[in-house]
Amino acid sequence: MDRARIVAVFGSPRRRGNTATLLDAAVAGASEAGARVDRIVLRDLKIAPCLEIYGCRIDGECRIRDDFQDVRARMLEAGGIMLASPIFYYAVSAQVKTLMDRFHSLWVKRHWVEQAAAGPRPRRRGLFIAAGATRGPRLFEGALLSVRCFFDTLDCDLWKSLLHRGLEHEAEARGRPELLAEARLAGAELARLLREGDGAGADGDRRTGETDDEPSL
Ligand SMILES: Cc1cc2nc3c(=O)[nH]c(=O)nc-3n(C[C@H](O)[C@H](O)[C@H](O)COP(=O)(O)O)c2cc1C
Repeated sequence: MDRARIVAVFGSPRRRGNTATLLDAAVAGASEAGARVDRIVLRDLKIAPCLEIYGCRIDGECRIRDDFQDVRARMLEAGGIMLASPIFYYAVSAQVKTLMDRFHSLWVKRHWVEQAAAGPRPRRRGLFIAAGATRGPRLFEGALLSVRCFFDTLDCDLWKSLLHRGLEHEAEARGRPELLAEARLAGAELARLLREGDGAGADGDRRTGETDDEPSL
């Protein structure tokens, strides 16, 4: 795992939509702060849904051969993970959910193949960016539960969430400089924290937005 490397996962079907715009700002901030950022645009990749055949029980490797293997290697190489998704029906996008489900092969590897034998692993630090059109108080609950669980599979602490209501049309985030500045700052801060190597999530600096009062999973 390379702590100077951050992977940025673009999870929207819209290339230049709200979450892509915000993630671009976070990537710019991280790059300016010295991180090497690897962009993964899920809508351009062929990643099939999990078939639940559990071929991964053998060695933790998914038996469906497609772009997932490359994405998995790149995500596991990184010390920081930025994930952006629109809210679709109170959940993450299908592109993001498909990726999450395919990473169940890693969960199987950790819990069923290796069990406790592998010992403790270094933690990653994660930033989650989401946008939804409406303004309900529970808008991000479903996505946050999924992301926490997914990040946990990746040995990644959800360090910060940037959750934005009231963003609907494609260019709306571009007209909100305060949101872009916040995302840029978050990217820079993530790069700095990774560089300083203070142990992701272990320093009492876990700011997870709206889920702070929720019980841990
Ligand atoms: C299939 C679909 C489902 C959606 N579901 C919701 C929803 O449940 N709640 C909501 O507030 N907005 C919903 N939206 C609106 C998007 O979350 C919103 O437009 C968002 O800004 C899109 O982000 P993007 O530009 O990064 O794709 C939905 C949009 C689509 C296309």
